[in-house]
Amino acid sequence: MSTTRTTATPIHSQFLERMSPRAFVPEALSTAQLEQLVDAARWAPSASNKQPWHFAYALRGDAHWQAFSQIPNEANRRWCLNAGALIVLLSNQESSPAKHSFDAGCAWGYLALEAHAMGLATHAMGGFSADEARRVLNLPAHLLPECVIAVGRRADAATLPEDLRAREIPSLRKPLNEVLSAGAVPSAA
Ligand SMILES: Cc1cc2nc3c(=O)[nH]c(=O)nc-3n(C[C@H](O)[C@H](O)[C@H](O)COP(=O)(O)O)c2cc1C
Repeated sequence: MSTTRTTATPIHSQFLERMSPRAFVPEALSTAQLEQLVDAARWAPSASNKQPWHFAYALRGDAHWQAFSQIPNEANRRWCLNAGALIVLLSNQESSPAKHSFDAGCAWGYLALEAHAMGLATHAMGGFSADEARRVLNLPAHLLPECVIAVGRRADAATLPEDLRAREIPSLRKPLNEVLSAGAVPSAA
């Protein structure tokens, strides 16, 4: 199977170039970089413009880093602790009961593409302890931890443990015609 990303329509190259690596250079992001990422994310559209998101972060090595590093699960901790920052993306279930997760997901997409434009890489993780996130961040009940995001400068795959090295390649996608239909949706969708 080919691992080169190509497509037939003239989409912006950022969509093909962005990927979620596991190898990160172990250096801290700056506060300015972190703010730029979240600034892009907050311009995402949301239902009734509720903006039901919040970003809690730790920069590598800062006063919060140790506590944040306990939030990802064991499998993700193997690689994500080299990242330059860890961000916990929260959605506000109270302000947008029906669309909080959908809107937070869009904000994550914006953040990921801004990171790519800045020469940084991101990797979202659903594998984390929500209980630990609640404890570390002292979360009120209406804020739902959606995912943890590792951000940083990409490192050579050789820096990874052997079993993770092979996975450091761009993933492919289902064909366009499998996810797109004119009119009624096929039963296989
Ligand atoms: C909400 C969400 C949760 C994810 N959880 C994990 C995770 O726990 N561990 C992991 O290694 N990758 C995780 N990923 C990364 C996906 O596996 C990855 O985005 C997908 O395979 C597509 O690859 P790409 O981002 O490189 O294009 C997650 C991605 C998203 C958006």
